[in-house]
Amino acid sequence: MRHTIVAGNWKMHKTYQETHKLLDELIEKLPTGKEVEVIVAPAFTNLGSAVAHLDGTNIQVAAQNMHQAEGGAFTGEVSAQMLKSVNVETVIIGHSERRHYFHETDAILADKVNTALRHDMRVIFCIGEELKDRENKQFLNVIFNQLTDGLFHLTKEQWANIVIAYEPVWAIGTGMTATPEQVQEMHAFIRREIERKYDLNVANSTSILYGGSVKPSNAQELFANPDVDGGLIGGAALIADDFAAIVNAAE
Ligand code: G3H
Repeated sequence: MRHTIVAGNWKMHKTYQETHKLLDELIEKLPTGKEVEVIVAPAFTNLGSAVAHLDGTNIQVAAQNMHQAEGGAFTGEVSAQMLKSVNVETVIIGHSERRHYFHETDAILADKVNTALRHDMRVIFCIGEELKDRENKQFLNVIFNQLTDGLFHLTKEQWANIVIAYEPVWAIGTGMTATPEQVQEMHAFIRREIERKYDLNVANSTSILYGGSVKPSNAQELFANPDVDGGLIGGAALIADDFAAIVNAAE
């Protein structure tokens, strides 16, 4: 169901102690009574305790990644079943840092999506073009291919558990935010392609988040676009006041 979501991807930041301090600050500072779903994605080591800590609040917990296999000899990896066993129901898949540093291909990501959905998890699937793609005017093609290869094998029904995060790689952690016009153009394109592949109902039921240098000063103008349903926040999600201000900027 399409609705507004603000998710904080904490990446490889915050120890156990720091995680719990930030969670306490968020519990204190986040607005209540807003029609916004708030999600935080701490490191694997802190997921279980974060879920317990946030029990009774309206802050959800997501994982930043998971392995596509059900289990087995995959040293260092974490499975969907393990996430579910600590009550984590949402997982970020396909973040550009996973694609780039850990060589996760579209085929691997499609597999991860399938595994997550098989376990009734919700997926925040990240897509985004690099700067060279924008400069070469290939950005729409790149996004189309990522959608096709990562998600367009799914059934209509499976889309109920898909959230898309559009994160232009050149805007991640660089301070170079995409303009509201660039963001709206891409989000409308993504929604149109979902409609072409499936139907208007699937397109209009899918939340599409923007990520890439979102901060309190630009959140409102980004979120005001008709096809933007909130954000996936990196750096600013690590500062309780900033994250609260961004949640406040969402409808
Ligand atoms: O997952 C979040 C994104 O990578 C955005 O990171 O807000 O630090 O640019 P950023």
